[in-house]
Amino acid sequence: MSWQSLRPQWGIVLGSGLGGFAGRMESTESVSYAEIAGLPQTAVAGHAGRFVFGNVGGVPVVAAQGRVHLYEGFTAREVSAHVRWMRERGVERLVLTNAAGTCNPRFEPGSWMMLGDHLNLTHTSPLLGGPNFHDMSEVYSKRLRAHFSAAVSELGVALHEGVYAGLPGPQYETPAEVRMLQRLGADAVGMSTVIEAIQARALGMEVAGFSCLTNWAAGLHPGTLGHEEVLETGKRAAEQLAVVLSRAIPGFPACMPG
Ligand code: HPA
Repeated sequence: MSWQSLRPQWGIVLGSGLGGFAGRMESTESVSYAEIAGLPQTAVAGHAGRFVFGNVGGVPVVAAQGRVHLYEGFTAREVSAHVRWMRERGVERLVLTNAAGTCNPRFEPGSWMMLGDHLNLTHTSPLLGGPNFHDMSEVYSKRLRAHFSAAVSELGVALHEGVYAGLPGPQYETPAEVRMLQRLGADAVGMSTVIEAIQARALGMEVAGFSCLTNWAAGLHPGTLGHEEVLETGKRAAEQLAVVLSRAIPGFPACMPG
């Protein structure tokens, strides 16, 4: 069967170092972003740039392996093009994953944080030019969060919940910026996700977000930050998220309650 005829219910965007989840999906087919008109392509190491179609516990999903970022010079419309494409293919629920620095002294690097909310500090939006004032009071679905928390506690995996601050990058933050983010209520900081989440909500998708906390944000620990460290920690933690998603996705009720 070709991917054109597949109708995945779930979409999963795999962030830096987290692409390995696609290898756990059953009966996969893939299409590279280069083959799809209108999809921008990434040049960042650790981001493959293709959609992988398959099943997780019998549930059809499509995983976006790789995303483009504002810091590569793309617009917010371009950064969210894969979300609109997945919606057109039938995706109703979107799981966004990313690598992030932890600003919360209680959230150790190597652990996962589920996004309870976000701060969009990118100064842009995928909805610019559109007429609608979309509600963003529950970007990350309460229902999905409750479901993932329950799955995680059965598995005995540690999962924090907190606020993700999305910045444009590409440089990491200064210690003063990290102190500012802490005062603003951020638990983690990264350079993706918020634009995609806004786009998905505007399209009526149900969204969940997970940050792999790859490092202490600048100034919280001695030493400097590098992309290699982020990829390495991401790879190790990816296995845990794969287990959580493989358990939680098949167990999720397909229809809205009530
Ligand atoms: N800051 C911003 N983005 C990141 C970080 C960080 O510390 N770690 C991984 N992505």
